[in-house]
Amino acid sequence: MKRNIIITGGAGFIGSHVVRLFVNKYSEYHIVNVDKLTYAGNLANLKDIVDKPNYTFVKADICDFDIILDIFKKYQIDGVIHLAAESHVDRSIKDPFTFAKTNVMGTLSILQAAKIYWESLPEKYEGKRFYHISTDEVYGALKLTKPLGDPNCNKCGGGPFGEEFFTEETRYSPHSPYSAAKAGSDHFVRAFHDTYGMPTIVTNCSNNYGPYQFPEKLIPLFINNICHRKPLPIYGKGENVRDWLYVVDHAQAIDLIFHKGKVAETYNIGGFNEWKNIDIIKVLIKTVDRILGRPEDADMDLITFVTDRAGHDMRYAIDSTKLKNELGWEPSLQFEEGIEKTVRWYLDNQAWMDNIISGEYEKYYESMYSNR
Ligand code: NAD
Ligand code: TYD
Repeated sequence: MKRNIIITGGAGFIGSHVVRLFVNKYSEYHIVNVDKLTYAGNLANLKDIVDKPNYTFVKADICDFDIILDIFKKYQIDGVIHLAAESHVDRSIKDPFTFAKTNVMGTLSILQAAKIYWESLPEKYEGKRFYHISTDEVYGALKLTKPLGDPNCNKCGGGPFGEEFFTEETRYSPHSPYSAAKAGSDHFVRAFHDTYGMPTIVTNCSNNYGPYQFPEKLIPLFINNICHRKPLPIYGKGENVRDWLYVVDHAQAIDLIFHKGKVAETYNIGGFNEWKNIDIIKVLIKTVDRILGRPEDADMDLITFVTDRAGHDMRYAIDSTKLKNELGWEPSLQFEEGIEKTVRWYLDNQAWMDNIISGEYEKYYESMYSNR
């Protein structure tokens, strides 16, 4: 079946994996990647698919409602996968306005454009889909009730680190300006279903890692710093727990849910893969040092404890049982395999990293870490 799909934020980390998957897998679809190319957007993430006949890139700000509506009309859009957002918690602490604008108003702008265009068609919402990508961070933070993890756990992260998990029924309780803005956008998406009958779906995913992630986030930042023997700034005591998923597994879940998910439903996406930050960092050091042929643990002394992030959420842990039971999704990669692939990718793609960390990035990095 032919479809015309907007993927917003397709030049970012997760979006580029989703665009690549859809362009390669569905030659009968036309994929329109709408991205403003903020500091986080990078067309080099899509070098391998840029010339495909079923792919179009449009540089646009999702907040520009008139432009977005024109894109819906011009490309006769019947599906939306919405990833464009400001995505970094530390930046949201410094500049919450930008997060409210892009994440809340930008989402509203795409919703309203979809509504106006789809309601103008004879078939209206039939065959249409608005899929909004959100985060587990909207649920707030879980308690670290098992600081040593579960003694029976055979996963290397050693979790779970508590009895509770985020389910689709967990009450929203965002703590950072980032998660508050994402929560606002989730509510607007559901409101468009409940008020206008728009066929929406929302998914909330745990922390992603893998190739093409902007090196302000923990894993690519630390791989690069270990490689160049720069300090590894760990917030607080490094006890905070995150639940990690390989980005390609997230993209595959998005594909499945876009096609088979039930309208108006929410699905949590995660791999039951909890790690304390300090333990992840040790794995990264060991992996980089082994691949680069450095003596074992040579770079452990790069670990540097710095002032904690304001409002730092202690633990995220996703229960993705619903997605497994209803749609049969499970992550394909074990964490050790995913981390090995990821470290090798960053080491093999130093030019990609160098392009990013020259110029503006340096100023960002200085402003983030100079006062810690
Ligand atoms: P990212 O920061 O790497 O990419 C965001 C992309 O959106 C960039 O290409 C940027 O240019 C674009 N963008 C930003 N503002 C825009 C605007 N106003 N108009 C058009 N484009 C704009 O983010 P990511 O990590 O790939 O996250 C993608 C989505 O997935 C976000 O909605 C995020 O909340 C969600 N999410 C991320 C994670 C994670 O671990 N990274 C986990 C769960 C959910
Ligand atoms: P991050 O990758 O920013 O994702 P999020 O805040 O969305 O979970 O951070 C992951 C964890 O790593 C989080 O607990 C904060 C911590 N962290 C550090 O300790 N040092 C760093 O330099 C960064 C970027 C993150």
